[in-house]
Amino acid sequence: MTKHIHPIFDTMLSRADKEKLLAQHGVVIWMTGLSGSGKSTLARALERRLHQDGILTKLLDGDNLRTGLNSNLGFSEADRQENIRRVAETARLFLDAGVVTICSFVSPTRAIRKMAAGIIGPNDFLEVYVRASFDECARRDVKGLYAKALRGEIKDFTGLDAPFEEPLRPFLVIDTEITTEEEATQQLYQAVLPKIKK
Ligand code: ADX
Repeated sequence: MTKHIHPIFDTMLSRADKEKLLAQHGVVIWMTGLSGSGKSTLARALERRLHQDGILTKLLDGDNLRTGLNSNLGFSEADRQENIRRVAETARLFLDAGVVTICSFVSPTRAIRKMAAGIIGPNDFLEVYVRASFDECARRDVKGLYAKALRGEIKDFTGLDAPFEEPLRPFLVIDTEITTEEEATQQLYQAVLPKIKK
């Protein structure tokens, strides 16, 4: 597929040039967890916090990207894999521009997240597990999806009839059942800041 393609990477301005301009190091903060675990809430709060510090960020969020770039994809294993592949390639483009890129996707399996880490580069991939149990997410049911899924109206629902595999060695675990939004944001901010401002 890439037979007659001639990339020009070597003559382009480098990531280091962009990072120098921005006075920051690019990194990808990858939030994984069940639907309703708090990924997007936390991602938005972190982005605001970093923005206040003058850090250039980009937030990529599952529900948003699924209305545009990934609007032709559903929730089969193959579609989720393609969803995450496109997201990881997109994140890499932002990373190449020195941007702190926050990704908020269920990204339910170890294989899927490994693929994302491989595309982005393991050194720039900070995996954050936003943990809340299935029962707790079902209790919150912010979008009303758990009620539907439990009535059998949504198939391949993560945690019900589609798997969620917890990360084995994440950069950070945030348990939203025992931390407030403010505490969680602070924990996350403190963990990522040293990677951005060295
Ligand atoms: S992923 O599995 O491919 O990473 P992604 O993060 O893009 O998923 O989208 C998840 C969001 O889609 C959930 O937050 C939820 O709002 C919605 N959604 C709709 N159907 C499903 C489903 N079957 N499983 C999980 N999430 C679903």
